[in-house]
Amino acid sequence: MSTETWVDALSADDLPTDDVTGVIVAGRDIAIYTVGSQVYATDNLCTHGHARLCDGFLDGHEIECPLHQGKFDVRSGQPACDPVTEPLRSYPVKIDGQRVYVRLAALSP
Ligand code: FES
Repeated sequence: MSTETWVDALSADDLPTDDVTGVIVAGRDIAIYTVGSQVYATDNLCTHGHARLCDGFLDGHEIECPLHQGKFDVRSGQPACDPVTEPLRSYPVKIDGQRVYVRLAALSP
């Protein structure tokens, strides 16, 4: 049995344009990014400290944390510059009709 599930996250009408927004999906704080026609999703909390990336600045495929200006690649969640060293969890995204879905994996206990 699969441990991953597509979960309805938001309306396609609520997607930002070349920007980031934060949504709660199945109790998890998720950042949704659009870069051109592509949509990406990662955890919304920075791995360096207590900051929400949806309050940061999206520049191309990089999200800059609002607290210490660390950066992550939104395509993979990988750190792009100091002081962040731990990757963000990233999630597949699909659009079906007017809804945007994020595929969530079961979290480790
Ligand atoms: Fe995000 Fe420090 S809290 S870089």
